Amino acid sequence: MGFQAAYQTRSVRWIIPFIGLITCALTWLRFHDPRLQGDQESWNEQKASDEQRIQEQEAVKEHQFQESIQDIMNATLGFNKVLAINIPSRTDKRDQLVLGSSLTGFVIDFIDGVNADEINPKTYPYNWNQEHSATEYACLRAHLNAAQRIVQQGLRTALILEDDVDWDISIKPQLQTFAHAVRTLQGTTQNHTDSPYGDEWDILWLGHCGASCKTELPFYMIPNDPTLLKSAHLPTYYHSPPENARPDDTRLVCTMEDAACTPAYAMSYRGAQRVLAALSVNPSGFEGKLQTGDQIDLELGRMCNSGLLKCFAPFPSLTGTYRSAGLSSKGTDQSGHEGGIQMERAASWGVVYSTMLNTKHILQGERVVYATWPDVQHPNIKPEDIHFERGYVYDYRSEEVSDPIPIPTPEEEIVDEPVFADDPSFTDEPYSISRPHATREWHMKESGS
Ligand SMILES: *[C@@H]1O[C@H](CO)[C@@H](O)[C@H](O)[C@H]1NC(C)=O
Ligand SMILES: *[C@@H]1O[C@H](CO)[C@@H](O)[C@H](O)[C@H]1NC(C)=O
Repeated sequence: MGFQAAYQTRSVRWIIPFIGLITCALTWLRFHDPRLQGDQESWNEQKASDEQRIQEQEAVKEHQFQESIQDIMNATLGFNKVLAINIPSRTDKRDQLVLGSSLTGFVIDFIDGVNADEINPKTYPYNWNQEHSATEYACLRAHLNAAQRIVQQGLRTALILEDDVDWDISIKPQLQTFAHAVRTLQGTTQNHTDSPYGDEWDILWLGHCGASCKTELPFYMIPNDPTLLKSAHLPTYYHSPPENARPDDTRLVCTMEDAACTPAYAMSYRGAQRVLAALSVNPSGFEGKLQTGDQIDLELGRMCNSGLLKCFAPFPSLTGTYRSAGLSSKGTDQSGHEGGIQMERAASWGVVYSTMLNTKHILQGERVVYATWPDVQHPNIKPEDIHFERGYVYDYRSEEVSDPIPIPTPEEEIVDEPVFADDPSFTDEPYSISRPHATREWHMKESGS
């Protein structure tokens, strides 16, 4: 069939007006959709202005974020309060904390520690493991008093310190970097939040003697951290992230699975409510599952693990331990440990530029601070020259499993055992109703003897 013949067929003839129609449509669009305008320049202009708008929006959000974490430079490190637990008779340690915090620019409120011999046995949780020492219960009680203070005073957040804690001279920029990490893990770097650390957490376990991570969730890595000890100098840790998860020069921040020791942690209002509910008030529904009658760090660790508390931790720990010169027993408040050998020197573990060990240098007006171990990048440095790099998100599981892991949204992460006052477990019938004899006995005891 020749060309002419084909042109004559019906189907081809039908196409010609159709092409005409498309041309009309395109012509119409040229005048109505800038993207199709023959004038490529104005399309480019439009695109450029869209991009500029997005960039501007991002710059505004970045600015808001920077402003928000600027609060961490304030006198309470961006928390509502800094509370330190200290037995008033240990005036030496109170001096230590007041001086150290004054040198690094923050203010501490004190919570009186609890002496083991002042404990009313009625306050023991019903399942307290009596094999633990009275001092261990006193310690738990002091931490509960801190949680109680947070709830009673309606504090959104508070940092809780034990009184032998030491911290890096660069605590404020360290915490800003940490805030960036936890805000990233919470997915709220772009959002307005009440706390510079974000609002989706119960505990920020800043200081510990070991922490492990929920490996199914992303980590945040801070490379070339100048305040990181060489591994050989790290104190003994009882938990750690997976073996191969962290390059030596990197501090990681993760959603915490478990941790040991409580030298420094921040607690939110909601976290403090949950801790009081689980460890003291003991509403029905908690027993056995969470509350196991152990020391405070084991209990908190278990609550983080179960998801009752949402917890984040750096690894290694951000804080260390300090013991001033004098009796070796200074380190403990346990009774029966009054003596000990005389120590000549003060000691600090776990931080590079120890606030306590640099007291003298600062008060003598030296411009530089000194590292406790000289095998770091800068054995001495001006505090204002300590800088941290922006970190990155790291998916531990994708190193092993090739399929991508969805980053859970905060909604999915919400604890599965809410314990607020509107929770049915709070309004359960009290035990005494189902056990009338117990109630009567109690009344008789109260009015009788
Ligand atoms: C520090 O910042 C936090 C967070 O914005 C705020 O709640 C706290 O009141 C501030 N502290 C002081 C002493 O201004
Ligand atoms: C943060 O903001 C984004 C959008 O700006 C929103 O989609 C997201 O749900 C917010 N996240 C939280 C935890 O509020």
